[in-house]
Amino acid sequence: MTTPFEVPLRSEISRIVSYIPGTQIKDLKEKFNFEHVIKLASNENPLGSSPNVKKILNKSFSDIRLYPDGEAKALRTSLSDQLKVNVNNIIVGNGSNELIVLLALMILKPGDQVVFGSPSFPVYSIVSSMFGSIAKPVALTNYTFDLEKLLDNITSKTKIVFICNPNNPTGTIVSAIKIEEFLKKISSKILVVLDEAYVEYVQDQACKDTIQLLHRYSNLVILRTFSKAYGLAGLRVGYGIAHVDLISNLQKVRQPFNVNFLALKTAEVALNDQKFLKQVIHLNTRMRTLLTSQLYNMGLSVPKSESNFVYIEIKDAYKIYEKLLKKGIIIRPIQKNSIRVTTGTETQTMSFLNQFKKII
Ligand SMILES: Cc1ncc(COP(=O)(O)O)c(C=O)c1O
Repeated sequence: MTTPFEVPLRSEISRIVSYIPGTQIKDLKEKFNFEHVIKLASNENPLGSSPNVKKILNKSFSDIRLYPDGEAKALRTSLSDQLKVNVNNIIVGNGSNELIVLLALMILKPGDQVVFGSPSFPVYSIVSSMFGSIAKPVALTNYTFDLEKLLDNITSKTKIVFICNPNNPTGTIVSAIKIEEFLKKISSKILVVLDEAYVEYVQDQACKDTIQLLHRYSNLVILRTFSKAYGLAGLRVGYGIAHVDLISNLQKVRQPFNVNFLALKTAEVALNDQKFLKQVIHLNTRMRTLLTSQLYNMGLSVPKSESNFVYIEIKDAYKIYEKLLKKGIIIRPIQKNSIRVTTGTETQTMSFLNQFKKII
């Protein structure tokens, strides 16, 4: 297509820095003619998903000509039973990413401010730019969201605060008590988005019970996903839990059938297989400990992760990433002095450690 594109776009669009996804297995296989590639770059689940997911997928194929349940009733009811919150406090999204965008769409105007820790999930900054708002990244303290510092950066223009817990990419957590102290101190007119994409992996009880906060803070929304511990990243399902008024307004701005038929069916089945989830968490805890202890032994600085990845501060991060690619291992460079590595199966994790040791 050679004719120039001349349709005027909203000026905000040119300021968006695109999200860069992790290197794909297929691309690396093609580039180096590899038969096997290990991907530890996007915090996906090395065990896949519940065996029941395959069964329901096979059973559901004949019905994909039908539109999905636009209200996601069955999945929201299962979530409501498990989380002990009313169905009307739950919304399901095309990944939790969709819900982040919809929240921003409902709230942000040009000139508003959005506060979050840094480094953290890049989408917080992207959605801020999308609506002409000003992103205010606040440096982490000891690799951890510093809620006092976030408070210091809140102004009359602040409309949304994102707290990523555990934080991607550092894996660190803040306790539910600290989150409540923070909520007590800010205006109930500022939306606090507690992004718990990795909550299932957390072992520290101090940050587990955040849902009870929803009873006291109408400006809090908790986001979770089926992409990580439930192993359904490719199907795109996430959910949000919040005050009924927030949820009913979010329902207005989503697409009528935002979550596809197979995604809804499989998420429900995955949610009900808590035995599989336990295996996932058990493997993750073992691999996280293995990674952390071996990296410590190499003299590296690794914050305590409560997630399914570890963050490693190391110079020449991009060179290390490139060298690992040549060995068929994909990790994620974060900045020029840090990388993030997802926990794999034992074989995958050991392969990474062996190659990494040689490279550094
Ligand atoms: C912190 C965090 N939040 C949200 C998401 C989005 O997840 P999804 O849209 O797959 O539910 C991710 C994905 O990596 C993430 O790391």
